[in-house]
Amino acid sequence: TRIQGEEDLPHATKKTMADHLRKYESLFTLTPQRMRMIVEAFTETLEIGLNKPNQIVPMIPTYVFGWPTGQETGDFLALDLGGTNLRVCLVTLQGEGKFEITQTKYRLTEEQKQDDGQKLFDFCAECLKTFVDTNFGERDSALKPGQNLPLGFTFSYPCSQERIDHGELIRWTKGFGAANTEGRDVAEMFKKSLEKYQLPIQLTALINDTTGTLIASHYVNPRTKIAVIFGTGCNAAYMENVKNIEKINHLGIDPAAEMAINCEWGAFDSFEHEHLPRTKYDAIVDDTSNKPGEQAFEKLISGRYLGEILRLVICELIDEGVLFLGQNTYKLEKPYCLDTAFLSLMESDPTDELLMIIGIFTHFFALETTLAERQFFRALAKLIGRRAARLSSCGIAAIVSKMGYLEEGCMVGADGSLYNKYPGFADRVHEGLQDIFGEKGRNIITHHAEDGSGVGSAIIASYDKDQERRWIV
Ligand code: GLC
Repeated sequence: TRIQGEEDLPHATKKTMADHLRKYESLFTLTPQRMRMIVEAFTETLEIGLNKPNQIVPMIPTYVFGWPTGQETGDFLALDLGGTNLRVCLVTLQGEGKFEITQTKYRLTEEQKQDDGQKLFDFCAECLKTFVDTNFGERDSALKPGQNLPLGFTFSYPCSQERIDHGELIRWTKGFGAANTEGRDVAEMFKKSLEKYQLPIQLTALINDTTGTLIASHYVNPRTKIAVIFGTGCNAAYMENVKNIEKINHLGIDPAAEMAINCEWGAFDSFEHEHLPRTKYDAIVDDTSNKPGEQAFEKLISGRYLGEILRLVICELIDEGVLFLGQNTYKLEKPYCLDTAFLSLMESDPTDELLMIIGIFTHFFALETTLAERQFFRALAKLIGRRAARLSSCGIAAIVSKMGYLEEGCMVGADGSLYNKYPGFADRVHEGLQDIFGEKGRNIITHHAEDGSGVGSAIIASYDKDQERRWIV
């Protein structure tokens, strides 16, 4: 392996850098054969999750029955609690796949994510109140006296559901840890907060961001069969035949109906770590997280962790005396200080001198870099980003195989900062699908999804008006 610009290094350093890169290449590269093995184990895991309750990958029945017709209409509120921000939207569905949307974002603090759960929902209700107070002057047609506005709550954590407006939090993910919430019905907790603030709002649906994305993407692009979020977390949803969800057979739901499944695939290979190629850096990320052992797949892929993986590799080389000799590296030694957005920037730096990478290291970490080092960091970012994309292909391929979508092909609605902002991420996912399936892998195409937690949540909240769609016999 040759690193551009290595001419400006003394011979010994030159050799070391190239050697190191080779080592990381072999640690982070996934061969097509390995990917196919992962797909096989993944497919099996998805099936077990559908057959038996309480599995690691829980394959959660969402009680969202079937695809939208495109004719859904009305005003709906949508609240999105996903990771970084809290978002409130007013969505007007106009039929024929058209909609209008007004939204406001509110920042969540780290303390709020760890504080008491009821307080977190109180904060959500408070933001809703501010939103309603500021927006409903102009849009008062939406708020009729004596009538509650329907609200879809996108709560993007694993919740086991018994109906559409219910959800028991199985566990927090993505670094959240609010107390007194796991094991409880978050819809109930949220309703309490709505009452406290006396809001004219009725929670009609509790949904996951993947489910919302699935429905919203299908609303505008009916070839969509799967939705994936590549953001702070990573997860997928798809539409399943009720007759195949063995674990709910006893409920008497029409077996001919279809229901969206929230896979919670981020939990694949948790605890046992049998199937995924984990490096020692991944093990450190896991051990030092607030949930060791959990979300094993997600920790190799999602935006919350990629920057940290790169940081750990760099810190190892600092300890070994390979990088930044004689410089003070304390700023880089702080966990999670290297955001995944930096990896995107490193990969997309268009200059020969890699000026953006110079900027990152001087500005954020007060460190000088040589061109060879910058080339090396960029190469590392590429390895970590590429591995994330190829592992994601394995998850998509598992759903495609399970559902038999390969021959006819399908669209995958995708959303989240990694998918939208990381250069080349989508191309790498597509390349991965071809490595797994050969030429036919081209039949599976990802596209930027429609806003799931806004539009999707509104469409799902509207399903409630049409009881027929519950399909219960
Ligand atoms: C985490 C959550 C999951 C969510 C995903 C993407 O994996 O557990 O519910 O869909 O992040 O936001």
